[in-house]
Amino acid sequence: MQQLIEQLKAQIAGQIAEAQDTTELSAVHGRFLGKKGEISVLMQGLGKLSKEERPAAGQLINELRDWATEQLGIKESSLAQWELTRRYKQEAIDVTLPGTGREMGGSHPINLVRAELCRVFAGLGFEVVESPEVELVNYCFTALNVPPNHPSRDRQDTFYISEDVALRPHTSPGQIRTMENQKPPIKVVVPGRVFRRDDDASHSPMFHQIEGLVVDKGINLCDLLGLLTTLAKTLFEPDVDVRFRPSYFPFTEPSVEVDVSCFVCSGKGCGLCKGTGWIEILGAGVVNRKVLAGCGIDPDVYSGMAFGAGLERMAMLKYGIGNIQILYDNDLRMIGQF
Ligand code: PHE
Repeated sequence: MQQLIEQLKAQIAGQIAEAQDTTELSAVHGRFLGKKGEISVLMQGLGKLSKEERPAAGQLINELRDWATEQLGIKESSLAQWELTRRYKQEAIDVTLPGTGREMGGSHPINLVRAELCRVFAGLGFEVVESPEVELVNYCFTALNVPPNHPSRDRQDTFYISEDVALRPHTSPGQIRTMENQKPPIKVVVPGRVFRRDDDASHSPMFHQIEGLVVDKGINLCDLLGLLTTLAKTLFEPDVDVRFRPSYFPFTEPSVEVDVSCFVCSGKGCGLCKGTGWIEILGAGVVNRKVLAGCGIDPDVYSGMAFGAGLERMAMLKYGIGNIQILYDNDLRMIGQF
């Protein structure tokens, strides 16, 4: 019996030493101390011994059981401790790591230019108003003194919805709607979407304009020059120059194309200004007397100035964007830069 106990002891010690975790250890526990475990089987075998042998053998088995229980307990607590430490390590959170924040977009360049223009004009006392995108042909052309045979009326240039209704090809109908609803003095800007049958690297069938209109007593071309100079200096560089070139629009007389001195080369000539030192930014003029009269404003008492500028063109110039399509791709890598 003594020998058998020693053998078992060695087996138990070996298996405890080999147990890698608490699961393996509880298997060892079951194998020896469980209901059908080897020590329990030994206990049950006591009955087969003689009365004389029984007490000594019983004591030996009891001692073995107590010893095994103790050894398993010691190993159990060291394994449990180790497993806990490992779990803490695995589940540890490094609070010093940067968070996984959401990607930030940015304001679209067209919205930025529009907001900046509205801010500048509001500061100069202008009201910002909106005007319909689907517009009467009368307001798109006729009330603006555009003759019936003018090429801009062509179906190849303007999107017609019916004989009398079109997608507005410019924001100038906003002038008519304003003058029909307000008495001078009038100072408004009308930002919004416009539509033309045009599509290439610098044109899109949908683009944005901002229209400006001032009607008061004594308004003339010098007021226009002053206003647009302020605008150009705010939007581009404080030392930018502005010049007028004679032009023609049916709704203004005289009409001008407005250039700013190139803010990349300061007028020396570069790729952006195509060597001329000047960049065209908008069309403008003194409101045609016929247009004022058509809106019920006496042209002998009042005069007006108006301009219309493309927001895409301004954004492309301001931010150095070479192709208009980039403005409509809505690629966050582009928009996120602004
Ligand atoms: N409506 C003109 C255009 O779209 C611009 C303009 C507006 C010119 C107001 C003069 C006065 O080209």
